Amino acid sequence: MPDLFVHNIGLLATPLMADRQRTERFVLERRNAAILVREGRIVEIGPERELESRMPADCPRFNADGCLATPGLIDCHTHPVFTGNRADEFHMRNAGRSYQEIAVAGGGIQATARKVRAAAVDQIVKESLPRFDRSLAAGVTTIEAKSGYGLDWDGEAKLLRALELISLQTPQRMHKTFLIHAVPEAMEGQRERFLDEVAAEMIPRVAELKLASAADVFCEQGAFSVDESRRMLRAALDHGLQVAVHANQFGHSGGALLAAELGARSADHLEYLNDQEITALAKANVCAVMLPASVFFLGTLPYPPARKLIEQGARVAIATDMNPGSAMTESMPFCMTAAAIYAKMNPAELLWAVTLDAAAALRADSDVGSLEAGKAADICLWRAPDLNSLSYHLGDFRAFTVIIGGELAWEDRDATARY
Ligand code: NIG
Ligand code: FE
Repeated sequence: MPDLFVHNIGLLATPLMADRQRTERFVLERRNAAILVREGRIVEIGPERELESRMPADCPRFNADGCLATPGLIDCHTHPVFTGNRADEFHMRNAGRSYQEIAVAGGGIQATARKVRAAAVDQIVKESLPRFDRSLAAGVTTIEAKSGYGLDWDGEAKLLRALELISLQTPQRMHKTFLIHAVPEAMEGQRERFLDEVAAEMIPRVAELKLASAADVFCEQGAFSVDESRRMLRAALDHGLQVAVHANQFGHSGGALLAAELGARSADHLEYLNDQEITALAKANVCAVMLPASVFFLGTLPYPPARKLIEQGARVAIATDMNPGSAMTESMPFCMTAAAIYAKMNPAELLWAVTLDAAAALRADSDVGSLEAGKAADICLWRAPDLNSLSYHLGDFRAFTVIIGGELAWEDRDATARY
């Protein structure tokens, strides 16, 4: 791969690895910087004039046209492989029914699982792939993608295979996660048998076939208890998978404390979080993943206590939670806007939460998440004048250019300023 010289950057803004232990989030901002890329990685960032003087005349160049450059965004929690939609449930909720009531009545996760069960893998890929395209356009260069609507082995294996096929068709870096979301309808009344099957058969097979690098459990009243979640996640750890927990979304489910106990890579949701739980997450270095789009979309839950998490020294990431039930969006910029308004995060905290801390949530922070020598050359260019503007244009803020591993992955044909 030839070198690439990214020049004419208006402002470069990035978190730095060296600042990871700081409670206050610091962002390096540089004007007139240029980036030199070799073999898909950043080899140098420096003043454009100085780098320019050393550049061979035939070095391929990319003119950033005065844009704001940030690390590629990292969406560390999504459920993007499914068929059909649940727009009916969205409006039922707005008419007064709760997410849990709809689930108990046979909707929710089981409704999507029925559609997934009936669909061939090609159909699932066809319906899901555009979500990855939209995510890329929103600046996401690394995406975590969960299964979770297959429920039994055949269904889950089908979704993980669909993700494999999608990863061949998207330039995004993908981290696949096996999600244990609910007991399949066909096994109602056989809960213990299902848990045995997950721990003794499904998890070992996922690990052996390398279908995913992590496991996640929906630890919540109405889904899986703390003891059940612990059992499945311990099995995952025993088989070399990383673990994450859907925790404390509808109440103090015990999921956050379980994540701390197991040293999970992340605890996700955290709408209900007390001081003891915050301290436990910070102490165990479990990344707190906030999903503001799902709080917004469900309409009735509190936002996670981001300020307290940050003050107590926890890592805080923001992700879309892209899914048909509680967060029908691929837009990380929208999630940043919601976190700014409702969780009172400042622009520097927001940037950390969608780049380096999100990379930490995937244990990928030595590779991606900041613009520094040695890191993958995953770069987003935004038609925005400064960091404040990154969370300001509500709803449809797309990247101007997305570079992944030093290669052009996406360009906005419209390319007008979005601030
Ligand atoms: O993260 N909370 C559990 N899982 C998803 C929603 C799944 C669904 O409703 O389809 C979430 O919000
Ligand atoms: Fe989720």
